[in-house]
Amino acid sequence: MKLRSRHLLGLEGVSKGEIVAILDTAVSFREILDRPIKKVPPLQGKTVVNLFFESSTRTRISFELAERRLSADVVNFATAGSSVSKGETLKDTARNIEAMKIDMVVIRHSSPGSAHFLSRVVDANVINAGDGGHEHPTQGLLDMYTLREKFGSLEGLRVCIVGDIAHSRVARSNIYGLTTMGAEVSVCGPETLIPREIDKLGVKVYHRLEDVIPKVDVLNVLRIQLERQKSGLFPSLREYHRFFGVTKEKVANAPQPITIMHPGPINRDVELSADLADSEHSVILQQVTNGVAIRMAVLYLLGTSTQ
Ligand code: CP
Repeated sequence: MKLRSRHLLGLEGVSKGEIVAILDTAVSFREILDRPIKKVPPLQGKTVVNLFFESSTRTRISFELAERRLSADVVNFATAGSSVSKGETLKDTARNIEAMKIDMVVIRHSSPGSAHFLSRVVDANVINAGDGGHEHPTQGLLDMYTLREKFGSLEGLRVCIVGDIAHSRVARSNIYGLTTMGAEVSVCGPETLIPREIDKLGVKVYHRLEDVIPKVDVLNVLRIQLERQKSGLFPSLREYHRFFGVTKEKVANAPQPITIMHPGPINRDVELSADLADSEHSVILQQVTNGVAIRMAVLYLLGTSTQ
């Protein structure tokens, strides 16, 4: 199946069929990652530029590995040491790089909408690797892949996204993707970190962890994003941990098994206790491994389409 767009800018509006096509394509790439030789040729002759204007460990390395596993030529751009420090705009940076004849751009940027903007000013395929608090579609896809791998299906799966929903691109991409796939999605956090009208996206809202823990299969715990918060939205990290930190003790009270996810990086013992992050409940490192396969699938589907 072909994707309808030449770009992956978000999961809002991406159909169930398209999500299934990406997840299914990733299954074969995931198998390649376990082979002694982890390289296949589909993107031979294509050049991909990774434009990272914001910090990243997982996404940047995962995209670069995915591109190299598909035999693409890879160029990495980081703001430090570039002409951005001399005042060059995103549009000029992108168009100058494109003038060097590249095929695909992966962009992470602190401004919501930056990936959409880029898709309007360059001819290359654009993949959003996280734009401010807007969307992080490959994270949403790798989370869905990890859940489908564990549970077999996303239909009816009960997933609660916990924490800083207001500043989270991961939350938005998960909500769009999981609701499209028929999961029952809820969010839980302090009122100051839950956007008003989030229920319009088809999610239930909880403000007490103890109310939601007995009702879900999965807790996807989000990082408290202190860098995006303009004023104190909760009294202290200690108090946040007390009420919204997900811990072994809180999960142990649930009658059903609970799977723990986190997109990383983790603030250990703030939003998630260290022992639970490293426990048998956690699929956090599977998420990271699956991220390479998902990014291979997205690069492959966009890079080999004749649209
Ligand atoms: N999950 C995620 O986006 O992590 P990085 O910020 O390290 O890329």
